[in-house]
Amino acid sequence: MAKSIISFEHVTKRYEDTEDAVLKDICFDIEEGKFYTLLGPSGCGKTTILRIIAGFSEATAGDIYFDGQRINDIPANKRQVNTVFQDYALFPHMNVFDNVAFGLKIKKLSKAAIQEKVMEALRLVQLKGYEKREISEMSGGQRQRVAIARAIVNEPKVLLLDEPLSALDLKLRTDMQYELRELQQRLGITFIFVTHDQEEALAMSDEIFVMNKGKIVQSGTPVDIYDEPINHFVADFVGESNIVKGTMIEDNLVEFVGKQFVCVDGGMRPNEPVEVVLRPEDLNITTAEKGKLVVKVDTQLFRGVHYEIICYDEDGNEWMVHSTRKAKEGSQVGLYFEPEDIHVMRFNESEEDFDARLESYEE
Ligand SMILES: Nc1ncnc2c1ncn2[C@@H]1O[C@H](COP(=O)(O)OP(=O)(O)O)[C@@H](O)[C@H]1O
Ligand SMILES: [Mg+2]
Repeated sequence: MAKSIISFEHVTKRYEDTEDAVLKDICFDIEEGKFYTLLGPSGCGKTTILRIIAGFSEATAGDIYFDGQRINDIPANKRQVNTVFQDYALFPHMNVFDNVAFGLKIKKLSKAAIQEKVMEALRLVQLKGYEKREISEMSGGQRQRVAIARAIVNEPKVLLLDEPLSALDLKLRTDMQYELRELQQRLGITFIFVTHDQEEALAMSDEIFVMNKGKIVQSGTPVDIYDEPINHFVADFVGESNIVKGTMIEDNLVEFVGKQFVCVDGGMRPNEPVEVVLRPEDLNITTAEKGKLVVKVDTQLFRGVHYEIICYDEDGNEWMVHSTRKAKEGSQVGLYFEPEDIHVMRFNESEEDFDARLESYEE
């Protein structure tokens, strides 16, 4: 296992004027050199975690460790982290060079050292030749790069990025996702990236912490989280999902929409009430006779690569299907899927219990 660089142990954050804690008993380990993403809806506490790591905000309870040392009482300017903010927070009256050099000048580095470090940082973000440009003459994507250069010029061990791409348009955002990922790999430092965009999180991260209401609800690789969401919230928030209520009859046998299906999940009580997830890309449209479920096609939209087809079963459940072929609106069709496409979730299962059950059951 790689070395842990940041740990939170039972960190809680409460503001005096709010009843509910903003962060509730947060525990995690961040390993050196990886790309982490905090993913969750607006207001779930992502920025608060970054602010506590950076030293801009204090935890109400719990311990924060950096490189093995407790840092709760270490001031922000003594911490080996830098932040790239959502609004970039550049100095509009300074040119690119001076923006990037600002922190180094405060640290009173020699002119030659500043020159060398700033040029290297600008080279890394592909802004060589832009040193004399005014910030007002730079595009959104270029400003973003200046903000990143200003953060990496200090050679932090950890770079914190708070929704840095949210102001960019879709095409530029996708380009910057690749660039940031590549930059992280080239620098080899730890990135902690915050986003509410699940596609961005899945595309960029080594590890994702999915957050909801001040808690980390699930952590894991993008594939873990997409393939094995722990509960309704994660299944719904990360990717498109069809979620229906059902009953786990016994190991490998689940009932939903009034029918029993063979599946690969288990480790639950007999006849335990569960929720069942089927991803739209795992559903195939076939004839009503060959289908495991019979549904009626309601509407469809062409999404560029596939059709997004909305169907309803006889119980009134909605089923979204991604298919490369069109279906006929109003027709009865069958939905076919494999046992391993059925993902069964318990109600209110903790992440520890979920991981333990998966491990014991799947081995
Ligand atoms: N200074 C503050 N005083 C009171 N509540 C705050 C303060 N700062 C943030 N909050 C609240 O903390 C919660 C989490 O905020 P934040 O960490 O910014 O969420 P996110 O970045 O996930 O959108 C929100 O409900 C927000 O209103
Ligand atoms: Mg935020």
